[in-house]
Amino acid sequence: MCGIVGYIGNKQATPILLEGLKRLEYRGYDSAGIAVKNSHEIEVLKKEGKLAELENIVLADSPSGTAGIGHTRWATHGRPSDNNSHPHYDQKRDFVVVHNGIIENFQEIKDELEARGYLFESDTDTEVIAHLLDFYYQGNLRETVIKVTEQLEGSYALAILSRRESDKLIAVRKDSPLIVGKSEGENFIASDIPAFLNYTNQFYVLDDGEMAEITQDTIKLFNYRGEEVSKDVFVVDWDPEMAEKNGFDHFMLKEIHEQPDALRRVLNNRISSTGLNLSEIDLPQSINKIQLIACGTASYSCQMGKYIIEELARIDVNVDLGSEFRYRDPIIDDNTLVIVVSQSGETADTLAGLRLAKKKGAKVLAITNVTGSTIAREADEVLYLKAGPEIAVASTKAYLNMVAVFYLLAINFAGQRSTISEELKTELIDDVLRLPELAARVIRENEELIAEKAKGLKNCRSAFFIGRNTDFPLVLEGALKMKEIAYIQAEAYPAGELKHGTLALIEDDVPVIAVATREKIYEKIISNIKEVKSRGAKVTALTFAGNREIEKAADNVIYIPALNSLLSGVLAIIPLQLLAYYTALERGCDIDQPRNLAKSVTVE
Ligand code: M6R
Repeated sequence: MCGIVGYIGNKQATPILLEGLKRLEYRGYDSAGIAVKNSHEIEVLKKEGKLAELENIVLADSPSGTAGIGHTRWATHGRPSDNNSHPHYDQKRDFVVVHNGIIENFQEIKDELEARGYLFESDTDTEVIAHLLDFYYQGNLRETVIKVTEQLEGSYALAILSRRESDKLIAVRKDSPLIVGKSEGENFIASDIPAFLNYTNQFYVLDDGEMAEITQDTIKLFNYRGEEVSKDVFVVDWDPEMAEKNGFDHFMLKEIHEQPDALRRVLNNRISSTGLNLSEIDLPQSINKIQLIACGTASYSCQMGKYIIEELARIDVNVDLGSEFRYRDPIIDDNTLVIVVSQSGETADTLAGLRLAKKKGAKVLAITNVTGSTIAREADEVLYLKAGPEIAVASTKAYLNMVAVFYLLAINFAGQRSTISEELKTELIDDVLRLPELAARVIRENEELIAEKAKGLKNCRSAFFIGRNTDFPLVLEGALKMKEIAYIQAEAYPAGELKHGTLALIEDDVPVIAVATREKIYEKIISNIKEVKSRGAKVTALTFAGNREIEKAADNVIYIPALNSLLSGVLAIIPLQLLAYYTALERGCDIDQPRNLAKSVTVE
């Protein structure tokens, strides 16, 4: 939901801002802009469309100056247009602001400002901030920003530049992420770490209500009352290479290929042939229910987590979408363990779920990929996914690691509750340890075949994904990938439910992807395949090696290596990710930045 960057230092700001925006473009890509301060004014360039459109106008007129701010937008208030693009000026061109979030009371403020004679150039909520800065300014930018933010309701991360005090940038945060990067003779503002990884790995993570006053050589942090605060610098262990495509055509493909390493990283230190090391995550006897909260792909990992934890640890697990949980008055108390799952650690609805759960007295464990993210900081305990930066809007490696973490938790809880035998525990641990190597094999053995299969899906308007038991959440995720990046109406269905309605949609040549990795209901899914096949569907089955019987029922089969069948879900998602990727490629879709979406959904 919008990417913000800021730079102040001894180099030309424009190329650095554009580079930062490029790395944050996954956060929003309907328009972009920069503001750069030269010796006497602030020059703003902004353009509807992708960042490349802005780059084109910058080529013709590159603003010169060593301080600036920039923005890549995912529209909330006001359709994508040049005027609605950020940065926004006040009337005198003294203040410019970029914003991520939503100002809920902007209309009220706008009415008041208009009554005082302020003229607006955009339909955005953000522009009120620029005019308020002008209205309140009395010679101290930092104090002015405090007065302005006192007027604002809603969520905001702001970067502000003023020609009245041109030696500094101001960064403010409330309910939208913002970090300040620290380096020698230059400092940075960004919505997310990858923006300036090439320049620094040292960051201050702003908390809600905090503000930073940043010059070329100093960073001062303040709370909302204007009192100076100190905090530790947070050092990131991500390598700048991790945020590059490294020869792949798309980040999504690169991230699919990174899954074996991502798995290795999350399993490393947590599990070995001698057992599990999850000492911080125990399940006290008093806990009688687990509540999982997440959105999108992360919620599908939770649905998988429910099956796994319930089967192994015999405890009730409930799954909610963040957007539903927060408004349904859930039954949660201090006997509930709440687990929130979020790649970004910033998803607004998941965060609201976390806060509600804490208010109700529950202990909250976060599973997230981003160190220092809001969800990581507000949870009682954190388990990091260690997938490395995930840039493609479609989540792949983070999902896989979420599922792997659920296996670790389930085995751990089962051990604590003595619900599985030592033999099964050893078998599961051995299989989990093989996952990285097997994930690499699945990619190696299937990629070419799947790229070929995708040609057959190129022109289809709809597709069905069916599965049962753990294969049901798996197909939900497979279908989401197909919708999200290939724009194919993909319906995921529990295979046993087809006959209650959905079967009416099956006709000649409709593609059905049937996943069958659970031995205990293998015969059942074969019957379901026959049901769709006899109504004309073209069935691709996905199952584990050795399952020859399925060949007779389906039109073609993709095989994954055999494991304890509870674990097959981790591997089976990989062919589905590849299928969505190559289908989107065949259809000429914008794979890393699908239409209407953004990576980090920080608004409700
Ligand atoms: O950062 P989060 O894991 O909280 O994000 C949740 C969803 O927005 C995200 O998984 C989304 O569904 C993905 N684009 C799916 O690929």
